[in-house]
Amino acid sequence: MSQESQRSRRQIVKFTFFKVDPAWRRLSAAEREESKRQFCRTVESFGDRLLVRSYSLMGARGDADFLLWQIGERLEDVQQLTTALFSTATGPYLTVPYSYLAMTRRSVYAAKDQPEAPEDRTVIRPTESKYLFVYPFVKTRAWYKLPLEERQRIMDEHIAVGRKYPSVKLNTTYSFGLDDQEFVVAFETDEPSDFLDLVMELREAESSQYTLRDTPIFTCTAMGLAETLDSLGAPGDETAAAAEGERAGPWVPVARLADVPEGESTVVYFAGDQVALFNVGGRVYALGDRCSHANGPLSEGSVEGTAVTCPWHDSQFDLATGKPLRAPAARPVAIYSVRVDNGSIFLKRKQPSGRSAASGK
Ligand code: FES
Repeated sequence: MSQESQRSRRQIVKFTFFKVDPAWRRLSAAEREESKRQFCRTVESFGDRLLVRSYSLMGARGDADFLLWQIGERLEDVQQLTTALFSTATGPYLTVPYSYLAMTRRSVYAAKDQPEAPEDRTVIRPTESKYLFVYPFVKTRAWYKLPLEERQRIMDEHIAVGRKYPSVKLNTTYSFGLDDQEFVVAFETDEPSDFLDLVMELREAESSQYTLRDTPIFTCTAMGLAETLDSLGAPGDETAAAAEGERAGPWVPVARLADVPEGESTVVYFAGDQVALFNVGGRVYALGDRCSHANGPLSEGSVEGTAVTCPWHDSQFDLATGKPLRAPAARPVAIYSVRVDNGSIFLKRKQPSGRSAASGK
């Protein structure tokens, strides 16, 4: 792949781990509630530029409280979001004990029998999994002295072990020259025990001999942002429901109608979600872009009537309700209210949270 095409497809990926000063919990309930609302509004105001997923680490680690996983096109957006968050009422109580900057990139190692699709590694598509395990990763310099064929042989074994655990999805991102580590790896799963078994088995693989550092490891639980802030704990806080209600409120412009001609589709970011827009006979439909089966990109699916077919394994969904019409998908995808006004497309959530709508848990 040429440098130019790699550049145009790749994403900036940022893992920012926040710690909250205990003094924040001693604020009045009203002050805390307002600070959380402001924090949520600030993240949402970047929804057209960044996909932001939130995770609580409460109970998992003592030195970090929550994670914002940010995915976008420009480093400036990540920087501006950080500045904006520290400018909220919560800002003076926040520190960032861990921060990892990375980018997507195609792997130099081919997975046998499964040639990597060009977009596989260059576009991160977070799933609805309940848990995320993150760690920075550095290989020994001896690894890079091995001939490429030798590295491929060792990686074949590594990849074969990974395939034994299909419930664990790996997102590898690259930090060479951008940050201290070489990679940041993020594993999504609903089954922590599968991840534990995978990591244990990988210790016995030859590739493990070339690991220089793979700590600290962060065990993160996926939650909506308001719920994540509520998990920080303080008496009398009921912000999640209030903030979710607020989220459902305003209409947010996401695209020009001219960007989605009749018969076409596109992807936009809305409130931290990737949303597929479809123009069917002049009517615009909006639903979560990730197929509930295995995260196929619905925006790239074919449309017949008011049904879209996932390009990966042929599941079909109703554009109006998000409900699956054909297996293998069994769960609905999130849907959004759409309004077209003065040539602009506006969205509003239909469910309180896209995450819960899609997860069905
Ligand atoms: S990912 Fe959509 S049907 Fe499998």
